[in-house]
Amino acid sequence: MAGEAEALRGRAMTDPEGFWREAAHLIDWYEAPKTVLDTRLAPATQWFPDGVLNTCYNAVDRHFLAGRGDQRAICYDSPVSDTKRSFTYTQLRDEVARVAGALKRLGVGKGDRVLIYMPMVPEAAFAMLACARLGAVHSVVFGGFSGAELSTRIDDSGCKVILTASCGIEPTRLVEYKPMLDEGRRLAEHRVEHVVVLQRDQHLAILDNGEIDWAAFVEGAEPAACVPVASTDPLYILYTSGTTGKPKGVVRDNGGHAVIARLTMEQVYGRRPGDVWFTASDIGWVVGHSYIIYAPLLTGLTTIMYEGKPVGTPDAGAFWRIMEEYGVQGMFTAPTAMRAIRQQDPEGKLKARYDTSALEHQFLAGERSDPPTSDWTSALLGVPVIDNWWQTETGSPMCSNLMGVEALPMKAGSVTHACCGWDIRVLGDDGQPVPVGEIGNIVAKLPLPPGAFATLWNNHERYVSAYMEAFPGYYQTGDAGLIDADGYVHIMARTDDVINVAGHRLSTGQLEEILTGHQDVAECAVVGVADALKGQLPLGLVVLNAGCARAEAEVAAEVIALVREKLGPVAAFKNARVVEKLPKTRSGKILRAIIRAMADGQPYTVPGTIEDMGVLDQIKPLIEPNSL
Ligand code: COA
Ligand code: AMP
Repeated sequence: MAGEAEALRGRAMTDPEGFWREAAHLIDWYEAPKTVLDTRLAPATQWFPDGVLNTCYNAVDRHFLAGRGDQRAICYDSPVSDTKRSFTYTQLRDEVARVAGALKRLGVGKGDRVLIYMPMVPEAAFAMLACARLGAVHSVVFGGFSGAELSTRIDDSGCKVILTASCGIEPTRLVEYKPMLDEGRRLAEHRVEHVVVLQRDQHLAILDNGEIDWAAFVEGAEPAACVPVASTDPLYILYTSGTTGKPKGVVRDNGGHAVIARLTMEQVYGRRPGDVWFTASDIGWVVGHSYIIYAPLLTGLTTIMYEGKPVGTPDAGAFWRIMEEYGVQGMFTAPTAMRAIRQQDPEGKLKARYDTSALEHQFLAGERSDPPTSDWTSALLGVPVIDNWWQTETGSPMCSNLMGVEALPMKAGSVTHACCGWDIRVLGDDGQPVPVGEIGNIVAKLPLPPGAFATLWNNHERYVSAYMEAFPGYYQTGDAGLIDADGYVHIMARTDDVINVAGHRLSTGQLEEILTGHQDVAECAVVGVADALKGQLPLGLVVLNAGCARAEAEVAAEVIALVREKLGPVAAFKNARVVEKLPKTRSGKILRAIIRAMADGQPYTVPGTIEDMGVLDQIKPLIEPNSL
């Protein structure tokens, strides 16, 4: 109905208590919340603070009890290991209760942290849900991170148990987890009590450090019941890049998250209980947490868990094959994946082999979506392609077309309007609203809606200083953009040192810390160079110490290897150039914002305070968009 989306958003804005009280009925509570929102700890918001629930109960047991026991809950499809396995809601309940029982036997209880460092296998989903079942807090670490990154997460989370696997499978290699695990444990100060390793057929890890084999871990475990937890108790910690080397532990609560995950699955993504849904991402990212695991299961959907790449496994038709085989009605992935497919099969010849007629919508998020790719995808699939904008911190979309409510006309390059509960504004650096259509800092007015983070693990001060102080009363998203005359939101760039590589968020500050750790590097700047496939690619510009006579190529190769060792292959850091100087102001400040804009193809103005214009001219050809 015309105007329905606007009316709904308006209601969430003017009567948040009423709106979210009603939404809370979408899930089952042991004790229904009497209070809807509590802002006494502002800028943090506590949602449904006196409500008591269990997220796993809502995602698994509830459907089994309501007669969905025979419906497929998770379909695991892994072309890289040539495996397919499906689990009904009854089977999922049994698997999850058993893993929860096994964790309990190891001493894991409410509030304990469990680190999950696993590839896209069903056991990883069981592990997440098992933690939720016990009220334990999981922290999933993406497989492309190094042992060093693992160690910072072990220390910060203080995890009692690590659940891992013998290997991940990448197109060109097997990724052995054990060496990275050993390195992570060696570097960490915190001592983990137990490590459990799922042995995969492709590679058997040698368990020489007291690790427990997954088979023995679950053998004979007594199925565990759901433990009631407070709405505000943490469900998980997910680490994301900040502006420094120390990642930020975004904390997700139970109650607010369950409510908004369930609500958005229907409102934003248009899916109803019983539907089939496919998110091609990884459980190591927020998209994977929210829309591979929690939201689809909370809604009683069948969710596809896909282990593989969009291309090359076996070919660029992999997604279309899945659509046909499972009757996928809605799909979600990153624009990069579509660009990769388009690059290999521009005419859609592979698509023509499959019947994808069940598909109603294709959603894209995680990075800027370029209109040519969206248009190509839409024409190929014959369905609307919806760009939605959000972050690890928010847990669900801040802006999207609400496909389950009313499909509004789409605008190229726009993420449509704010979702229910989000009051999105554009402010200048002075904190004043910018005129309509002008670019500024995108902020969200407090209080943030359910599911958005209310703190950073072990670091509430950083929560306040990094997000809430620059614009009092607002959450600073770190993105820049505009709202046009029709109220459509456009996301243009980051305002900080975060870059986005193939939908993965990286901190250039963290990369710079690693590069300056090399003995021959005097100073450096890392920039995201615009790239036609991955959106951006990191490039390190390094200045060598005075008197360093080593071959430039040798140092460049070493810093590349250093990033892989310290951060991991996920950084896709394959380019480093030795330069004589970096462009600076006369007072010696590196002109990072300008280098960044040049590399990303954005407009920039050279300040009158520049020390030497010639330096800027020299680096320009090195960092031009699509130059890597
Ligand atoms: N475990 C270990 N290593 C991993 C990994 C994982 N789970 N995921 C990626 N890597 C490695 C890759 O093997 C690669 O290593 P290499 O340097 O040895 O080649 C490196 O990390 C970079 O990976 P990636 O950026 O993914 O590049 P790719 O060439 O392997 O694949 C795409 C390119 C576009 C196909 C891929 O990035 C993609 O599917 N992107 C979608 C993004 C996405 O799902 N984002 C989540 C947010 S919605
Ligand atoms: P992450 O927390 O890793 O999901 O990364 C969030 C960041 O990715 C956002 O702050 C944006 O910079 C970017 N991003 C996510 N979705 C979009 C989108 N639809 N359009 C533009 N940028 C996006």
